[in-house]
Amino acid sequence: MQNPLNIDKLFEPLELSPQLQLKNRIVMAPLTRSMADDELVPTEAMADYYARRADAGLIISEATLIAQEGQGYPNTPGIYSSQQISQWQKVTQGVHAKGGKIFSQLWHTGKASHSIYHDGEQPMAPSAVAVEGRVPRVKDLYYETPRVMTQEDIDRVIGLYVKAAENALEAGFDGVELHGANGYLIDQFLHWDSNRRDDQYGGNSENMARFLFQVLDAVTAVIPANLVGLRLSPYAYFNLKPDNRDKAVFDYLLPLLNRYGLAYIHTGMFKDRKIDLLECTVTQYIRKHYQGTVIASGGYEVKSAMQTLEQADADLIAIGRPFIANSDYVEKVQQNKPLTPYTEDMLATLY
Ligand SMILES: Cc1cc2nc3c(=O)[nH]c(=O)nc-3n(C[C@H](O)[C@H](O)[C@H](O)COP(=O)(O)O)c2cc1C
Repeated sequence: MQNPLNIDKLFEPLELSPQLQLKNRIVMAPLTRSMADDELVPTEAMADYYARRADAGLIISEATLIAQEGQGYPNTPGIYSSQQISQWQKVTQGVHAKGGKIFSQLWHTGKASHSIYHDGEQPMAPSAVAVEGRVPRVKDLYYETPRVMTQEDIDRVIGLYVKAAENALEAGFDGVELHGANGYLIDQFLHWDSNRRDDQYGGNSENMARFLFQVLDAVTAVIPANLVGLRLSPYAYFNLKPDNRDKAVFDYLLPLLNRYGLAYIHTGMFKDRKIDLLECTVTQYIRKHYQGTVIASGGYEVKSAMQTLEQADADLIAIGRPFIANSDYVEKVQQNKPLTPYTEDMLATLY
């Protein structure tokens, strides 16, 4: 069937870095599936699931724990044990065998966690402010007030990011994405609601961005910066309460990201819409401040993806839920075949 939209732009290749050529502009967004085994090791079924989606220009793995202490959901995979690394090798080999590329999304949930994941100890965070509401995917549990991270904790966690980035390359990933979005640990430092510190990590934009830059400096000291991506959500209030002062933090940090030569910056939004405070969409806001490669995400359909690429608001489009529902998403778009709509009950199975 003739596609009524000119989708050529979605199928143009892109050089993410000299060692990384992407065959199209479609990125599979990171999608937590909670399907790792009880040791948080990726399974064969996960390897098959990712390999089925290798037509994407780039796959970003589900959020992956830099250490068990970063856990906040059941059965999320890690990348800190040798068993996890060797199982991830099966995943990356499967994707590479079908001509795909895959990054590992590195994750620490901070206070979006519960003492059930920490042998009864409180989770930790920049400040002692609990996430409101219930712990997802576990029955009848509410979030707890976290303990405040000490300088020692901060230094140790930076070391965990470095080790996890090295492990990811050992596991055959083409690069890593630091999960700095959606109210998890890095993002908790970047927002006034969750960061009430009065030391060098809080109280003003420069201090609030310090942890992010220390992680970036440490990771890019051991692996090439152009293999490191970063996901940010300047205006996605998942696990956090909004505060108008947050914008100044992102106004400060986004231009400074230009000096790293990163692989990309990736919008972390569920719906990438116009935000009054920013006077544009979050992706347009990132683009305004950041000159490198930008990945848009959040509710994109083929038409809006095309428009975003044509307007040069982003270079790549990440697709989340439609990729859960359609392992052959890329082929269907290319051939103008109807997509299977996403429903939440699909989360129970790795299609
Ligand atoms: C089931 C599910 C799991 C998700 N897991 C992650 C994750 O692990 N890391 C992350 O950064 N975003 C995660 N997200 C957000 C997606 O990456 C994406 O930004 C969001 O779904 C919006 O894109 P879409 O409208 O194309 O689905 C998740 C979303 C869903 C629906």
